[in-house]
Amino acid sequence: MDITFLLNGETVELTDVSPTVTLLDWLREERGLTGTKEGCNEGDCGACTVMVTDEGSAKALNACILFLPQLHGKAVRTVEGASGPNDEPHPVQSAMVDLHGSQCGFCTPGFVMSMVASHANGATDHDTQLAGNLCRCTGYAPIIRAAKAAEPQPVPHWITYDQSFSCSKIPRGEAAGRGAEPPFLPTSSDELAEVYAQHPDATLIAGATDVGLWVTKQLRELDPVIFLNGCEDLKQITITDDEIRFGAMVDMNRMGEAIADLHPSYAEMIRRYASVQVRHAATVGGNIANGSPIGDNPPALIALGATLHLRKGDTRRSLPLEEFFIDYGKQDRAPGEFVEAVSFPRQADRLKAYKLSKRFDQDISAVCGCFNITVSESTVTEARIAFGGMAGTPKRATHVEAALIGKPWTREVIDAALPSFAEDYSPLTDMRASATYRLETAKAMLERYFLEDQGEVTDVLKVTA
Ligand SMILES: Cc1cc2nc3c(=O)[nH]c(=O)nc-3n(C[C@H](O)[C@H](O)[C@H](O)COP(=O)(O)OP(=O)(O)OC[C@H]3O[C@@H](n4cnc5c(N)ncnc54)[C@H](O)[C@@H]3O)c2cc1C
Ligand code: FES
Ligand code: FES
Repeated sequence: MDITFLLNGETVELTDVSPTVTLLDWLREERGLTGTKEGCNEGDCGACTVMVTDEGSAKALNACILFLPQLHGKAVRTVEGASGPNDEPHPVQSAMVDLHGSQCGFCTPGFVMSMVASHANGATDHDTQLAGNLCRCTGYAPIIRAAKAAEPQPVPHWITYDQSFSCSKIPRGEAAGRGAEPPFLPTSSDELAEVYAQHPDATLIAGATDVGLWVTKQLRELDPVIFLNGCEDLKQITITDDEIRFGAMVDMNRMGEAIADLHPSYAEMIRRYASVQVRHAATVGGNIANGSPIGDNPPALIALGATLHLRKGDTRRSLPLEEFFIDYGKQDRAPGEFVEAVSFPRQADRLKAYKLSKRFDQDISAVCGCFNITVSESTVTEARIAFGGMAGTPKRATHVEAALIGKPWTREVIDAALPSFAEDYSPLTDMRASATYRLETAKAMLERYFLEDQGEVTDVLKVTA
């Protein structure tokens, strides 16, 4: 596979790229650009953060779980390219020096690149923007001060230059993974359908926030592979009066922005999904297709009554999302079939999505409970409740739902429904939580939903004795 991208302002053309070489390894080992650090090598620490610009915007991404073909047609900037052609420091670099934002310095290139990306986008929610960067010696206050201090400074011309480079200017064709031999980089869902039908044993790579770890941690060799990042039509978000539909390749940051007004609680949960870097890469299709029992999207989507849209060759089918998850590690997806989109009805917002994890930011859920309960004239008319972390699959609480539907919306009915959680779920004990804790937490979440509905504030960030 031959690919082309811009690296720190210079065009790079690579031939016969091994498809699962990470950008981090390539930068450090092939280009000697060792400013980009390796910390965890699994997307958790942000030491490897680079900025990748495409037609949409500048994105902070973790280079350790980013494969080279995912960069085709994009502009990459590492910490070596944060300063200008005459060594002018970027405003965030000056601010980091002036405000003492670095001590040992190991995390600093990653922080700087996250800050360069958020500065380019005009983002000022620095706690959120930097939640994926870990620092163990400076402390975050001076770093946040530096990010704030840089806010009013103009975006340097060498950073805006990256936006002039885009996929559409690159001659495509066989050179970019569209030939008869793997690896493949299709540019539409039609091409994907064709090539996947011919190679149903191939590994699909969307955002690589799971698949990346198969390579960096499990040292798996993946062959053949099909990259989905070129399929622009799978990145569409469609919102009509009746329906909301996300293409499989919509990333988590875009999804969160799209639903912020419609279902704010869901959007807030997405804000706590991993980090900005991971959310820029992770896709809604990957978060469903991986079949994880602790993925954050499936419970929320099931509570919203979502339909999953699958495609194999020219054949399409749709099914209720909960039916896709058959058992732990087993989904209703045939060889050569892929997730095309997920949709759910547009509805009045009754959804609350509660994510419980050991760390507030950048952590996978121990329990994720999503409640969508409709009350009319003080009676529960509809209830869709789904949980992650409570079973081998994302799963509806059908017994709890039955205990609520048709009953008055009262504390007594809630209390009477709580024992039904034990009929719906027999959770496991693992490193994230014990079975007892999970069951008790699930009950507490239903109580929380009721109390919030009665106007009581249950802000988990404000702990009172
Ligand atoms: C540091 C870190 C933190 C994380 N935190 C969270 C978190 O808080 N919440 C959470 O839910 N997850 C979290 N994850 C997990 C991960 O982000 C998700 O599972 C992610 O959504 C997977 O999407 P992807 O696009 O990266 O998929 P990939 O890694 O590219 O693929 C995942 C799987 O899905 C398949 N696949 C991808 N797209 C399709 C498709 N369209 N059709 C069929 N199969 C497909 C792939 O072949 C593969 O088997 C975290 C991961 C990391 C590394
Ligand atoms: S090295 Fe830790 S996120 Fe990449
Ligand atoms: S400055 Fe040492 S880890 Fe952040």
